[in-house]
Amino acid sequence: MLLRDPPDHTRLRGLVAKAFTARRVEEMRPQIEKIVDGLLDALASRGKMDVIEDFSHKLPVIVICDMLGIPEEDREQFLSGYRVSGRAIDPTPMTKAELDQVNANILAGRAYFAKLFERRRKEPGDDLTSALLQVQDEKDGRLSEDELFANISLLFAAGHETTSNLIGNGLLALHRNPDQWDKLVADPSLAASAVEELLRYDSSVQLTSRKASVDVEIGGQQIKRGDEVICLLGAGNRDPEAYENAEKLDITRKNVRPLSFGGGIHTCLGAQLARLEGEIAFRALATRLPNMRLADMDNPQWKPTITLRRLEHLMAAW
Ligand code: HEM
Repeated sequence: MLLRDPPDHTRLRGLVAKAFTARRVEEMRPQIEKIVDGLLDALASRGKMDVIEDFSHKLPVIVICDMLGIPEEDREQFLSGYRVSGRAIDPTPMTKAELDQVNANILAGRAYFAKLFERRRKEPGDDLTSALLQVQDEKDGRLSEDELFANISLLFAAGHETTSNLIGNGLLALHRNPDQWDKLVADPSLAASAVEELLRYDSSVQLTSRKASVDVEIGGQQIKRGDEVICLLGAGNRDPEAYENAEKLDITRKNVRPLSFGGGIHTCLGAQLARLEGEIAFRALATRLPNMRLADMDNPQWKPTITLRRLEHLMAAW
């Protein structure tokens, strides 16, 4: 879906778009609140956590596993340790070792999803995988095996890594600007507005790209048909012409329109879901762990990826 033009793009996106409308996503609120509470219940008495490993990664993995009908007993491999290799979507060439690693991950993913497809064909559920398998099995076969695999793995990967980064980067930004964390603690109903500002302030996806299908001029630059263009979403989010004090974090800022979800026909399909997960997560953290302190705030461990901006670890104590 992400790499196709219409009409293929329209067909592939149309098959899953229903599950991501604002109304359908809002219906998931109680279920997501339950997941967040369950995670924090298990962590609260420990007095410390790695925000990335223990919380921000687990929440969106559980949500997307539920949506895709991945059975509970298969989830451990995705909940602990498993990471999408962000290098594959960086605009710089990979080394042979990185390429081998990415290929190995894709093959392992393909093997897992083949088993899942087999299971969901036998035992269909109320999930996206079962729905897509049904489309594939219809007579006119509007979804090939490759498309099925590619789009289920896209949903799986896009559905968690980015949202995990929103929570990790966002929590770090709030603690580096303690007046903003204090504001959220004093009024957790600011969580939805905080999410928009955090998406803008430290975008978990820093860039997207396009290939021009016609000659075009943008901002005085000639772009020829076939040229590839990299759009720096993170930089656009801090455009001083679009925002007053663009470098300042302000969770009560009005009219924030982050570019972090891209735009046009490929605009992020999961944007509403990511926003809802972020809102519920920040509200719960500010309510339940108001005295949380973060370690290594001056020298956090960023991963060396370009497109995805993400922390390796983020240690917190309370
Ligand atoms: C903070 C979290 C997220 C961010 C920052 C993000 C960002 C993006 C960006 C930048 C794109 C490319 C848009 C473009 O090129 O114009 C994209 C596409 C996409 N995202 Fe997200 N995403 C997030 C969460 C999610 C979630 C939770 C899901 C699904 C469960 C998801 C599913 C997708 C899909 C399927 C596409 C491809 C859409 C298309 O090509 O039509 N994303 N996302």
